[in-house]
Amino acid sequence: MTGLYVHIPFCSVKCFYCDFAAFSGQSRQAGRYLAALEAEASLRPFCAPETLYVGGGTPSELTAPQIVELFERLGRAYPAAKLNEITFEGNPESLTDDKLTALRSAGVTRLSIGLQTADDALLPAIGRRHTAADFTRVFGAARRAGIPSLNVDLMYGLPGQTLESLRRTLDFVLDLRPEHVSLYGLQVEDRTLFARRGVEENNDNGRDMYEAAIRALAEAGLEHYEISNFARPGHRSRHNDNYWLRGNYVGLGCSAASFAGGRRSANEERLIPYLEAVEAGRLPDAESEAPKGLEALGEEAFLGLRRIEGFAPSSALRAAFAGPWATLKARGLAREDGPRWRLTGEGVFLANEAFREFVPPFALQETVE
Ligand SMILES: C[S@@+](CC[C@H](N)C(=O)[O-])C[C@H]1O[C@@H](n2cnc3c(N)ncnc32)[C@H](O)[C@@H]1O
Ligand code: SF4
Repeated sequence: MTGLYVHIPFCSVKCFYCDFAAFSGQSRQAGRYLAALEAEASLRPFCAPETLYVGGGTPSELTAPQIVELFERLGRAYPAAKLNEITFEGNPESLTDDKLTALRSAGVTRLSIGLQTADDALLPAIGRRHTAADFTRVFGAARRAGIPSLNVDLMYGLPGQTLESLRRTLDFVLDLRPEHVSLYGLQVEDRTLFARRGVEENNDNGRDMYEAAIRALAEAGLEHYEISNFARPGHRSRHNDNYWLRGNYVGLGCSAASFAGGRRSANEERLIPYLEAVEAGRLPDAESEAPKGLEALGEEAFLGLRRIEGFAPSSALRAAFAGPWATLKARGLAREDGPRWRLTGEGVFLANEAFREFVPPFALQETVE
């Protein structure tokens, strides 16, 4: 199956932790950008995507007419698409009723709304522009608009965030009965205000927070199906599952990544150079590589192991990584479940440590038989 990812790089403000291609004060380029997305699609090989993910940045920074235009352009660019899932990301400060109506009319099946925390003291301290009450209002409006599946993005390990504050956020969110929750541990990325301020990833408290969240979400009927993702039955993200299973996907827009026929590429991240490349009829690829041998097999493992139920490894992966796999099992971080490889409960907490076995430089000789 092929997924289509479309990156919308506009944001009202830049959050203090965010290293995505997301620019504030650039919305005036939106019209030009929408035309460039269609032009970029025409430069890429024909495909018939089955899932569409419009992410960002903040796609809800587009106006309602621009949202209509985006879907018209994508419809023209992919006439053979057979979409069974359309996800759109948005933020409380920009998801207005007219935009929600446009999204519903365009066939959006999943709306992902960024909250991060419901703690009104913490929100401005991480650079967010909305309050918890803004979120509640928008969530209700999205329900009334009839969008079938609603996701909430949350974060833990934020500076100043306590376990109690996270618990209150989870109670607040679960009261709204979302179909899906994504919960990310803070990563302090270079090029962010947090990195410049010397904020550290809070790993000790982080584990308590992650554990408490897994428990609360499970009790509320949200199945933990990927390291950072929880869903009610039938509401997993198919688009992202295809990514973890190394299916093909095409990415349009600045910074968007594509993976097809074993080749991975990523677009130019900067807005204006991206626009200029496409307008000149050039593919905006900044990087491209075809992972081979151990690298490709390692990728199959660390992506597949992100899924809580694991994945069925290829025979080449089993053979090449027999040693590291035995080591992980001996350490109690991974196990076999019929034909599948998966992490154990402990392995989920130490996932990054487990994944290191599968990224270069490989330590294949350090094995336990
Ligand atoms: C890139 S944003 C796009 C959607 C939307 N603009 C928003 O803010 O929700 C998607 C999600 O990534 C997560 N995220 C972004 N930067 C992160 C970081 N440095 N560490 C952990 N999670 C992060 C946040 O939860 C955010 O909601
Ligand atoms: S987290 Fe979302 S709103 Fe904040 S800067 Fe990143 S993409 Fe924009």
